[in-house]
Amino acid sequence: MSSLLLKGGRVVDPANGRDGVFDVLIKHGLIARVEPAISPNGAEVVDASGKLVTPGLVDLHTHLREPGREDKETIQTGLRAAVRGGYTTICAMPNTDPAMDSPGVVEFVQQAAGRAGLAAVKPIGAITVGRQGKDLTEFGELFEAGCVGLSDDGHPVADALLMRRALEYARVFGRPLIQHAEDPVLAAGGVMHEGLVATTLGLRGMPAESESVMVARDLALAALTGGWLHVAHVSCGQSVQLIREAKRRGVRVTCEVTPHHLALTDEAVGTFNTHAKVNPPLRPEQDRRALIEGLCDGTIDCIATDHAPHTAWEKDAEFDSAPFGISGLETALSVCVAMLVIPQTLTWPQLIEKMSRAPAALIGAEAGTLNIGAPADLLLIDPDARWTVEPEQFASKGRHTPFAGRQLPARVARVWCRGTEVTGR
Ligand code: DOR
Repeated sequence: MSSLLLKGGRVVDPANGRDGVFDVLIKHGLIARVEPAISPNGAEVVDASGKLVTPGLVDLHTHLREPGREDKETIQTGLRAAVRGGYTTICAMPNTDPAMDSPGVVEFVQQAAGRAGLAAVKPIGAITVGRQGKDLTEFGELFEAGCVGLSDDGHPVADALLMRRALEYARVFGRPLIQHAEDPVLAAGGVMHEGLVATTLGLRGMPAESESVMVARDLALAALTGGWLHVAHVSCGQSVQLIREAKRRGVRVTCEVTPHHLALTDEAVGTFNTHAKVNPPLRPEQDRRALIEGLCDGTIDCIATDHAPHTAWEKDAEFDSAPFGISGLETALSVCVAMLVIPQTLTWPQLIEKMSRAPAALIGAEAGTLNIGAPADLLLIDPDARWTVEPEQFASKGRHTPFAGRQLPARVARVWCRGTEVTGR
């Protein structure tokens, strides 16, 4: 593999406290040097001036759909979408068919991901067999096969005793249990947030408490067991406050927020827009503000997409019957720049931290940094670009996004995975 020199870009590498103009030399797929001025010495030179050079983004929460629902997404199309969005590592959620509840399915996903040669894939195994919420999977075998965490995402682990046992069991391996925090009885039949908008539309709502009640229970169980609870896609202020207090008490808890929950409210459902139908649902403005506050004060550890592709025929149905989910990989970075960097709520280094190093640290991945000797997973971002979201241009098979037609700032210009340039086209 030849060497590559990215010259004169603004290097944003929060892991090394770097934010300034540097040259970056890549050799044999690894970061070789990061210095103010490096002479090419035969390396291919890329002019990075006016661009940001950052570690590749890391997504803790991607639904790839393969095996089982290749009409919604394949590993190949999902990973193309990932690199287009600037993600060089993603975690694959286990709600496939069959569910990722045994080493065989984990191996299948890893092999297909290896063949794609795009973003690296870190599997998340299921907590319960078939994600049925009854019997625990063989955690040891799943971690041995390469899983970096476990989740029944799409469903909560509703049974408190089972969750207690799962936290105790996972603790032995030092890996997180990723809970889709939802009380299924309180949320039953709901298709959006319970509030004024739902009432006006005549739709059945899910109260914020259907999330926060489960968060409160799980925090108590994490405190009891010492197990590591990671709360997926936190959506409301009550949950943020509970997690904030638990962290202060020393409970082992981490959590993530999605770009769509940071950017939108339940008003986005408008007149039955199924492309804004997601679980947990978009909440009112005060919750959105609480999420941003939680992200800024460190209560929320990182940003994750919850990329959830579906077919057009499923999504373009009446609101009640359309599935939950937003295709998020290709808009995540720009949405976060629009919501957080442009209003000066976060700096570029703080945003890159929340989208690369922080999630990489949670799963123990060698990613999210431009450390010397680290795999050369990195991005060239044009911070001044403006583009319009055209879902028909997505690499993902999922074309449903509440951001369709929006003008967004900043665009991923070039992506390297382990030193090789990838395009996602
Ligand atoms: O909106 C969602 N879609 N939320 C989830 O938790 C699951 C996901 C899916 O798999 O479609």
